[in-house]
Amino acid sequence: MRRLVAVVALGAMLALMASLVLDSAQGQDKPKKQKKKPPRVASVHVIMEKIVFPNCKALGAGLKKGDTSEEALHELAESAALLNEAGFLLMQNKRCPSKTWAQAAARLRRCSAVVYEKLEAKDLQGAQKAFKAMTQACKNCHDAHKK
Ligand code: HEC
Repeated sequence: MRRLVAVVALGAMLALMASLVLDSAQGQDKPKKQKKKPPRVASVHVIMEKIVFPNCKALGAGLKKGDTSEEALHELAESAALLNEAGFLLMQNKRCPSKTWAQAAARLRRCSAVVYEKLEAKDLQGAQKAFKAMTQACKNCHDAHKK
């Protein structure tokens, strides 16, 4: 009888230990809670007002001024780079409503990249020419989509 009690007690202890080990293993395997992606809240209006317009204005004014110091050209190249980036933003997050829009955004990306390259090469005239071609993208999209 004593022996039986001992065996049962031992069995119960082993079962308890096994369940503890299993529990902690399961705890480790629990998938981490999926974090919700933060929403993209910038409207086209905000992208125009805070990225596109100020950088286009600064770039246009700087190219007109014609300061070819390293620092000035670098500043202008930064504006061209952000205009280029805006050309991508305009296609993301379901912002593009039409083919005209997509083509204007593509022109913005293409011409701003040329402006950037010309500035890197200290070719002010080339940059001015590409800038002018770039502003056609503003007009094309606005004619179709800006009320
Ligand atoms: C692919 C389309 C597209 C391109 C390219 C584009 N815009 Fe716009 N822009 C819009 C739309 C749409 C609005 C109206 C946004 C609104 O207010 O809802 C707008 C508005 C603006 C506004 C008024 C800001 C405001 O109050 O909404 C300015 C300034 C502006 N754009 C400047 C520019 C310049 C400069 C360029 C070229 C470097 C440019 N945009 C290129 C679509 C475009």
